Amino acid sequence: MTGETVLEVRDLHTHFFLRRGVVQAVDGVSFSLRRGEVLGLVGESGCGKSVTALSLLRLLPKDAARTVRGEVVLDGENLLDKSDREMRQIRGQKIAMILQDPQTSLNPVFTIGDQLQEAVARQNGAGRGSVMQRVVDVLRRVKLAAPEQRIRQYPHQLSGGMKQRVVGAIAISCEPQVMIADEPTTALDVTIQLQYLQLLKELQASTDMAMLFITHDFGVVAKMCDRVAVMYAGRIVESGPVREVFDNPAHPYTQALIASVPKMRQEVGLLHTIEGQPPALSDLPEGCRFAPRCEFAEARCQAAYPDTFHAGEEHSASCWRLADD
Ligand SMILES: Nc1ncnc2c1ncn2[C@@H]1O[C@H](COP(=O)(O)OP(=O)(O)OP(=O)(O)O)[C@@H](O)[C@H]1O
Ligand SMILES: [Mg+2]
Repeated sequence: MTGETVLEVRDLHTHFFLRRGVVQAVDGVSFSLRRGEVLGLVGESGCGKSVTALSLLRLLPKDAARTVRGEVVLDGENLLDKSDREMRQIRGQKIAMILQDPQTSLNPVFTIGDQLQEAVARQNGAGRGSVMQRVVDVLRRVKLAAPEQRIRQYPHQLSGGMKQRVVGAIAISCEPQVMIADEPTTALDVTIQLQYLQLLKELQASTDMAMLFITHDFGVVAKMCDRVAVMYAGRIVESGPVREVFDNPAHPYTQALIASVPKMRQEVGLLHTIEGQPPALSDLPEGCRFAPRCEFAEARCQAAYPDTFHAGEEHSASCWRLADD
């Protein structure tokens, strides 16, 4: 069930200012997230997915990165105008993030109980039992076995999958409106990846959260997401309902990504991979950024960045070939 828009990102630009030049990691990204829906952000390594997420939360290193343009509107307020103190509160209460590697999200010198206690104590509407009781409850929600014992343990005493469940527990403990999950299963082994994805999906559906789900795997998008935005070299090149984009991908890059999803019983050797490399984000071409790798590229593709065209209901893509339809 999807409802009103909870987060609106408009024309976001985030640059890294390095000695060797400016890296335009996020270069005009716009999307919206509705209550109760999962939006997938998908694209190859280095296309700007994580920098987009970290820009929303204002978690990028201040000395090197700056969001130079755009708006991130949550509850009618632009997060880019907030002070650091206001942002810390917003991160604890309204918007939460699960990172790729649980190792970096947990503090090795505190017990699981201590780390969750801090998160739970920040939660609104106390008075629902003792803090420790709530810690145990939230660990039960992420289906961690024997939570009463786990709260006395340290991160190194847990398996990778258990640690990621604890990170998930911290993220949901504040009952956020928006959850950002950045490749939350890459550090897990294959058998537990699926379980963890299922858990995330259940938590999302039962709380009606809006979720931004970041991955490079279109197969995972198909399982987890309602809508998808495909990112290439700092920009979104196609977006729409998952079913629609899957059945009818409009951008050649999306087509290539979908073709690279392994099918059941397909031999690995037959897997389609995309030839070539994305352009350097410090030296972007004028025209379509995918053109050098695109089998359909023509002169107009090199000449100017393509406009965004309608490709179906709520489905759009930036490719000059759509101008001909
Ligand atoms: N701290 C940094 N300093 C300089 N450049 C950076 C930094 N972090 C990221 N970048 C640049 O920003 C671009 C986008 O990086 P980002 O981490 O968002 O990629 P991604 O899409 O999340 O990739 P992956 O799938 O590998 O996680 C990259 O090209 C990278 O070189
Ligand atoms: Mg990333």
